Amino acid sequence: MDSIALHDVIESFFDSAPPLKDAAKITDNLKKFIESISPVSGEGKGRRVVCVTSGGTTVPLEQRCVRYIDNFSSGNRGAASTEYFIKAGYAVIFLYRRGTCQPYCRSLPDDPLLECFEFADELDVQVRKPYSEAVKGTIRNHHAAVSSGLLLKLPFTTIFEYLQMLRIIAISMRSLGPQAMFYLAAAVSDFYVPWKSMAEHKIQSASGPLDMRLMQVPKMLSVLRTEWTPMAFCISFKLETDSKILLEKASTALKKYKMHSVVANELLTRKEEVTVVTTDQNILVQRDKTRVDSDVEDPLVELLVDKHSTYIKESST
Ligand code: PMT
Repeated sequence: MDSIALHDVIESFFDSAPPLKDAAKITDNLKKFIESISPVSGEGKGRRVVCVTSGGTTVPLEQRCVRYIDNFSSGNRGAASTEYFIKAGYAVIFLYRRGTCQPYCRSLPDDPLLECFEFADELDVQVRKPYSEAVKGTIRNHHAAVSSGLLLKLPFTTIFEYLQMLRIIAISMRSLGPQAMFYLAAAVSDFYVPWKSMAEHKIQSASGPLDMRLMQVPKMLSVLRTEWTPMAFCISFKLETDSKILLEKASTALKKYKMHSVVANELLTRKEEVTVVTTDQNILVQRDKTRVDSDVEDPLVELLVDKHSTYIKESST
């Protein structure tokens, strides 16, 4: 598809999408967040900002949605990476799927409210002993990140919300120039039902087998790079289940969408290792296996922060 045709497909995707609720409020929150950390305020001069996308988008099958297509993503990659970016001094816009893994909550059990608390007496509730340190750590770190203005969390559910929000974020971050980074770890749906051809009401099972045509979701990566925020440092992800095709697909994506790096990962080993694919080398990044609680996101973010520093230096010369 040539760039004019792609542009038309992207515009028609946005024109036909249901309007984003709270778009004005989201834009306003972003403006305040970016102003508070950008040079305009004088404070925190030159702080870098990364937009971390996390979790999977849903594809509704009905306008008054009862059923939808979903994917496997837990949001662990995005949540863990957010913690390491904040540790490295970045401000993070965390664009995440509602209900998925959150920064600083990874060491809590699945049902934290019920498992971490107990009645101290008839009226008061207290933290159960085994979870005391984890709960304190979660509250301390999360509050510190939010109150120091380093973490802005924006939730999405559907593919329509995700792409509209990504566009708003990218345009808001344009003023940051090369200080801005995109770290696109969300698992974005490749196929969708256009809003206008979607059934309004619950699809009836009595009508027999369901025959439904899914359209291809236009890849927004090239328009993000070339139009929305052309100076930002962009990292996309490539997920495959077949290791034989993974690196080649990542390398194709790098060139096709003009990404600065592509993080290639395989479904089964994604928590152990990833490969960072760039124009001149492929770098294998592994979790520190000598520690049970280590994350592959720790060395991954360190490497990407380093590459971002080089990019900023080169952009200013
Ligand atoms: O959340 P976890 O369980 O921790 O898992 C993490 C992860 C495996 C989801 C993550 O590491 C990852 O690989 N995310 C990207 C998965 C994916 O959607 O890969 P893809 O090959 O379909 O897409 C490649 C890139 O294109 C992605 O950066 C995506 O943001 C982008 N994309 C995809 C589809 C689309 N229509 N438009 C896009 O822009």
